[in-house]
Amino acid sequence: MRRCVCPGSFDPVTHGHLDVITRAAALFDEVVVAVLTNPAKRSAFSPDERVRLLEEALAAATSTRDAPTTVRVEAVAGGLLVDHARRVGAVAVVKGVRSGADVEHEMPMALMNRHLSGLETVLLPADPRWAHVSSSLVKEVAGLGGDVSELVPDGVLAALASRGSASSS
Ligand code: PNS
Repeated sequence: MRRCVCPGSFDPVTHGHLDVITRAAALFDEVVVAVLTNPAKRSAFSPDERVRLLEEALAAATSTRDAPTTVRVEAVAGGLLVDHARRVGAVAVVKGVRSGADVEHEMPMALMNRHLSGLETVLLPADPRWAHVSSSLVKEVAGLGGDVSELVPDGVLAALASRGSASSS
């Protein structure tokens, strides 16, 4: 049984995140999606909302998938990612990278995690369809009345709309 962890803020989950999680599920027997709070960013959604939106989106995305991989979502209260990975028995971290800037951002974290515990990181190049998509940009565009309906799952679109920050056409 080879298990990986897909960590992130997921504030909120986008189609780019779902693509990475789905591809990780094709590489590993089990995927633990770890919802963390990044102290460098102010969260728009609570950890519980972020977990719920992920679970709903993954249920819809995986219902048609053939592979038996299990994907589960967990909120992580704090602490180091390597400690959480050890607790859940993950052998690797999987993250998506959209650009060279993302690779530069991820490299020191990947090396630090390996230094701390030997935990390896697998960086998946983002699908070009989602290379411009980030949670921050989605929130900014939605908040200013732009259409993000092709970039996020329906539940997220509804959640953005319910707080008056999304247009669907
Ligand atoms: O979606 P994000 O905000 O880019 O995710 C970044 C995140 C939360 C995955 C990263 O900040 C992280 O791993 N935080 C956990 C705390 C930790 O282990 N810090 C040391 C990283 S080397």
